[in-house]
Amino acid sequence: MTTPLRQPLTLPNGTTLPNRLGKSAMTEAMADKSDNPTQRHITLYRRWAAGGLGLQVTGNVMVDRRYLERPGNVVVEDERDLAGLTAWADAARSGSARAWVQISHPGRQCPMVVNAHPLSPSAEKLRMLGLFGKPREMTPDDIHDAIRRYGETARILRKAGFDGVQIHGAHGYLISQFLSPITNRRTDEWGGTLENRARFLRAVVAATRTAVGADCPIGVKLNSADFQKGGFTLDECKQVARWLQKDGIDLLEISGGTYEEMSFATATPQRDSTRTREAFFLDYAREIRAEVDIPLMVTGGFRSRAAMEQALTEDGIDMIGLARPICVHPDGAAALISGQAERIGISEDGLTLGRGSWGINAQNWLINLVNTVARVEYYVWQMDRMAAGQEPAPRASRNALVLMLGYLGKSTVRALRRKPRARRRAT
Ligand SMILES: Cc1cc2nc3c(=O)[nH]c(=O)nc-3n(C[C@H](O)[C@H](O)[C@H](O)COP(=O)(O)O)c2cc1C
Repeated sequence: MTTPLRQPLTLPNGTTLPNRLGKSAMTEAMADKSDNPTQRHITLYRRWAAGGLGLQVTGNVMVDRRYLERPGNVVVEDERDLAGLTAWADAARSGSARAWVQISHPGRQCPMVVNAHPLSPSAEKLRMLGLFGKPREMTPDDIHDAIRRYGETARILRKAGFDGVQIHGAHGYLISQFLSPITNRRTDEWGGTLENRARFLRAVVAATRTAVGADCPIGVKLNSADFQKGGFTLDECKQVARWLQKDGIDLLEISGGTYEEMSFATATPQRDSTRTREAFFLDYAREIRAEVDIPLMVTGGFRSRAAMEQALTEDGIDMIGLARPICVHPDGAAALISGQAERIGISEDGLTLGRGSWGINAQNWLINLVNTVARVEYYVWQMDRMAAGQEPAPRASRNALVLMLGYLGKSTVRALRRKPRARRRAT
């Protein structure tokens, strides 16, 4: 059938993506005890590669072994597992999709089980059930070391055969911590004005470009806003987008929120709703579109082909980002493009901690937190199934508390299992 979803997209550096549906990054938590990719990554990405996507962005890969988003993250600091990375790249590229890796540093959003003393632009602790330690304010040396690491990680991934990299600048991780006045209270050249707060991101982009060369596409995932009082705002996002255009990035993915305001994972697609309510960052993306010519990918809430097509044809959006729907419908992209499916993804109403409490309206903050974590873990479980060679189970109901406890338990076991080398260096 004729659909704008089928159109190829040529990026500023000349790379072409074969269609407009991109898998957005999703953390896999499948690395081995040396933080390397495994056969499970290969099976999972081969399954997704068969599903008709134009772009596959991997889950966040860490640039520094001492600081993880969660135990089970892949870490790329050197070339010792180039063969494993190459096998992962081959699997992700085995269908139509181009394969990019998301590179990230968690900053203060590094769980206590990994490191009780994470780094952050300022010593502002993330208060969440005691799961995160008080961060140490980064010294200028720490900052330069982190920038160098992003470049080195990108260089190695490119060498392994990945088609591109995406720098994770969203969701409250390190780059996002630099951008937000709540977590960045510095008074030196890395804090204060927006220009100073954006300096870290721009330096990471520059280091990455130097490392991968002009022919490798570089993307950035950025919050349209943090949705926190005093945090990074839409107006600031527009200015940062203008700078990123000047810096020569190839794709800007728009998202929003942080661990404290998990809008990226909590907004639920509504039935019979307007497409703006379906794709919850679309209004913001439209405003950003008015500011820049960089290709834009918008992620969050897209489920219906109608909303996706309208975003492409009427709102000037270039790529549709999909995360949760392709965990339950791995062939979703092909089904949308061929016209076999009008919508993909599931209603999450069946997943509850207490009747009806799944969602963001729960009265109790603890239930709210459990539900939010469980919502993410439900999809991690679907990825686990695919990684084991099974099909996802979109109709399966899971208890939110079990999912939350499973996350805590598995994280702890994985953290303890990591090679002493990895843990010893986590100081
Ligand atoms: C299981 C899971 C893991 C995720 N991991 C990441 C990640 O590693 N990096 C990232 O930028 N976003 C991550 N996200 C957020 C998604 O990329 C996406 O922005 C969000 O799920 C909204 O899109 P959707 O409505 O299509 O799911 C994750 C989401 C889920 C459900």
